[in-house]
Amino acid sequence: MRNIAIFASGRGSNFKAIFQHIQRGEIPATVVCLISDNPGAKALDFAVANRIPQFVIPPKAFATPREFGRELLNVLTRQRAEWIVLAGYLKKIPDEVVRRYRNRIVNIHPALLPAFGGKGMYGMRVHQAVFNSGARISGVTVHLVNSEYDAGPIVAQEAVSLEDCAGPEQIAEKVLEAEHRLYPRTLKKLLTTGFSVMGNRVIFEENK
Ligand code: GRF
Repeated sequence: MRNIAIFASGRGSNFKAIFQHIQRGEIPATVVCLISDNPGAKALDFAVANRIPQFVIPPKAFATPREFGRELLNVLTRQRAEWIVLAGYLKKIPDEVVRRYRNRIVNIHPALLPAFGGKGMYGMRVHQAVFNSGARISGVTVHLVNSEYDAGPIVAQEAVSLEDCAGPEQIAEKVLEAEHRLYPRTLKKLLTTGFSVMGNRVIFEENK
């Protein structure tokens, strides 16, 4: 069993999908807390309803990113979190947290990285950019988090065809369905299979 902390800023549908897989015994993990920067996040309601300890920690309450990072580490240590799972978390993870949880922070991005990622590329902005580009496929990327937005080692990807999508809303819907499949499956693999990281590549032991 691994202790995981979920970070979410909004709706929390990925958090919910992961939690449901855990409850069904499909991922050997315990959600030790939900951390949000946003007091209005819907994800908090889900945590309350499921008796998961929740913490609202807005970065702007701290004078520096470093102090913000220290507070996050205090809570993570107190809750005994071993992994951090970002599920629609919009703030930058401070460097001290990235260092302490090296290769144990996971994020999901609603496009096929390294395209359509980076600072400011989140939510509908991603799907709008994909739509405008004329790309015929988009998809989902699960990656480990380093100190740069959306640039950490890629763990898993799933492509979706956009042939039947008439606008960014339809892309968002199709991609979200794929997210709810790929994130729980990939998390299970990360928690149960040994892996190493070489450059930006993740190498699972079973593939060696
Ligand atoms: C998802 O599209 C995810 O890829 C991105 O933010 C969105 C969060 O959605 N990082 P939800 O809050 O999990 O419903």
